Amino acid sequence: MAFIDRGNGLNFQGAHILSINQFEKQDVTRVFDVADQMQPYALRKKVTRVLEGAILGNMFFEASTRTRVSFGSAFNLLGGEVRETAGFESSALVKGESLQDTARVLSGFSDVICMRHPDEGSVAEFATASRVPVMNGGDGANEHPTQALLDLYTIRKELAATGRDIDGLTIAMVGDLRHGRTVHSLCKLLCLYDNVKVVLVSPKELLLPAELIEAMRSSGIAVQTSEDLAPSIADVDIVYSTRIQEERFGSKQEADLYRGRFRLNQAIYTEFCQPNTVIMHPLPRDSRADANELDNDLNNNPNLAIFRQTDNGVLVRMALFALVLGVVDTVDKYSHDIRWFNARA
Ligand code: NCD
Repeated sequence: MAFIDRGNGLNFQGAHILSINQFEKQDVTRVFDVADQMQPYALRKKVTRVLEGAILGNMFFEASTRTRVSFGSAFNLLGGEVRETAGFESSALVKGESLQDTARVLSGFSDVICMRHPDEGSVAEFATASRVPVMNGGDGANEHPTQALLDLYTIRKELAATGRDIDGLTIAMVGDLRHGRTVHSLCKLLCLYDNVKVVLVSPKELLLPAELIEAMRSSGIAVQTSEDLAPSIADVDIVYSTRIQEERFGSKQEADLYRGRFRLNQAIYTEFCQPNTVIMHPLPRDSRADANELDNDLNNNPNLAIFRQTDNGVLVRMALFALVLGVVDTVDKYSHDIRWFNARA
C-alpha cells in the first residue's frame, strides 16, 4: 500500500490518511485545490457518479454526528454508497475480535474505510491489516487529521476574504488542549506555515502536550500560554474554541472542574476582539448552561464560522476520497446537472 513519499509529497492514491505527520505543505495545497473543485457538487449544482459502485465502510466506535455524516455525505456526493457500523455493542469487537481481524473482514466489503475509535493509535493498528485505504476519523486524544484539514481550509477561506493569509496567522486555541485531538492535528498542520503565532488558552492541567509545544517552537511558531481568555483574544485572527473532552476524564466531576472556564459571547467579543476576528470551533459546542463555551448570542455574528467549517468539511472529505481513490480527473466526466429544486441556490 502506498504510504508517505517524502520529498515528492504524499502519494495519495491508495494511501491511508492517519496523521498530519504524513502531510507536507504541497499536499495540503493539493487537498485544498481539489476541495475547491468539489464546490458545484457539494452545492448541488451538479451531480457526479464517479464513485458509482464503490462502498465506504464508515466505522464509528465513539460518539459522532458531523464527522460520520460528513464522511458519508461526501462519499454519497461522489456517487458511492455507505455502510455504517456504529458502537462497540453492535460490532464483533465486543466478542473479543481484534482490530486487525475486523480490518481483514471489513476491508473485503469496502473500497475505503473511515474509522473513529477511543484508543490512541487504534486506527493505525486497524490500517495495518486493511486491504483498502483507511481514514482516521479520530483516535482517542491523539489525532483528527481530516478535521485539521477542514479547519485550515476554513481558516484560509475566512482570512482570504479580508486579504489575510495562513502565513502570518495569529490564532488563539481555547479550552481542553490536552485531550482535544482536533487541536493536536491543527497544531501539527500549522507547523508547515510561516510566521504563525499560537496562543494556548487553557487551565494549566489541560495544557497542550509538551511535545506538541516543542514541535511548534522548533518549526518557528511563536507559542504563548495563558489561563486568561480576554487578553489572549485581543489581537488574533482566529479564536478556535473547544469543548472540555469529558469522555477523556476519569469522572464527570473532574471534567466539571474545567467546564465553563472560557466562555465567549457577543459582549466579550465586542469588548476584546478585533472586528474581523473569526470564531471557530470543531463542534459540538457544549451549549449546556454550565459550559456554554460559545454562546448562542454569537449566532448572528458574521465572523462566527462554525457552520461554514462543517460545510467545508464535506468539500475536504470529498477531495480526500477523490485523491485516495484516484478519480480527481474524472469527477466531471461522470457528471450531469441536478434534476430537482435546489433550495440552496
Ligand atoms: C471533535 C472530536 O470528535 O474530536 N468533534 C468533531 O469531530 N468535529 C471535537 C469534540 O468532540 O469536542
